[in-house]
Amino acid sequence: MKKQSKQMITPTRSLTKETEAMLNKQIVMEGKSSAYYLSMASWCETQGYEVSSQFLYNHSEEERMHMLKLFKYINAAGGHALQPEVTGIKHTFKSLREVFDQTLKHEIAVTESINELVDHCFKIKDFATFNFLQWFVSEQREEETLARRAVELFDLIGEEGVGLFMIDQEIGKLEAYAAKVAQSQ
Ligand code: FEO
Repeated sequence: MKKQSKQMITPTRSLTKETEAMLNKQIVMEGKSSAYYLSMASWCETQGYEVSSQFLYNHSEEERMHMLKLFKYINAAGGHALQPEVTGIKHTFKSLREVFDQTLKHEIAVTESINELVDHCFKIKDFATFNFLQWFVSEQREEETLARRAVELFDLIGEEGVGLFMIDQEIGKLEAYAAKVAQSQ
């Protein structure tokens, strides 16, 4: 039998190895986010910040969902999604403010990572992955807004007296606020 030339063989996938590796890197980031927020939620609970704690438990779940979205996409596209190794998660924090300062910093880093991925996919004309990532682009806009608003609360309300109690209560309203902002855009 005549051997098929290389060009004749139907490719089994369009996802490049480089894109697959970058998506797996994003999985690590989302897995770390989930673990990081879980750790923050637990710390908040031990300090009596009930509302912030619940907010962060929910956020941790959301990050796990982001990670799973990537798992499903990579595997459906013919790649192999890899369970990330998550280490070095901080367990204690100096203050509630530090928790939310770190959250904002972390979300900005996630946005930068998503942007890099989007830029890469556009350059190599992987429009399927580019399209898939648009959900993450919008999600990051919402999550950054939310984290920024949380940090602003500390300056708006102040941490003196009942301030921290009030900030904790206001954190509970942030999801509705971020959803409203997203709707108006
Ligand atoms: Fe999924 Fe907030 O990064």
